[in-house]
Amino acid sequence: MNFEQTLSIVKPNALEKNALGDIINRFEKSGLKVIAIKMLLLDRQTAAGFYKEHEGQPYFEKLMKFMTRNPIVVQVLEGIDAVAKNREIMGPTSYMNGPEGTIRKDYADDITYNAVHGSDSPESAKKEIAYFFRENEIFPNYSVK
Ligand code: CMP
Repeated sequence: MNFEQTLSIVKPNALEKNALGDIINRFEKSGLKVIAIKMLLLDRQTAAGFYKEHEGQPYFEKLMKFMTRNPIVVQVLEGIDAVAKNREIMGPTSYMNGPEGTIRKDYADDITYNAVHGSDSPESAKKEIAYFFRENEIFPNYSVK
């Protein structure tokens, strides 16, 4: 068990469906804590920078159009095994075969319009968090006073 942080993105199609509250609720109910959050409209350059490992893929232009068409919400989620837990709640890339009750099963429209993103390892979480948040915008390990 590791106490971790992970980056979560709620993508335009999920916001268009008014599903932000439901998605955050699923994270909170599973014990993940929102320790940073912002809504932003990506420009192409910022979207391409975030997804640079996907450049050249046949779906890249579709992904760029999608991620810039409406706002997204980026969050840092914290908790025990946060990276794996977030991915479990999201459901797999091939969401059609994913378990019932996962975010992608409920809100994905296709393999690109898949409602949410989550970091795939603690190392990429560090990079992805730093891509969207300055240190003073993140509030690690806060609790009841
Ligand atoms: P995400 O987890 O944000 O990481 C990369 C994104 O590219 C992915 O979600 C999808 O939106 C998109 N993507 C990944 N693989 C494919 C694919 N095979 N076909 C279409 N889109 C994809």
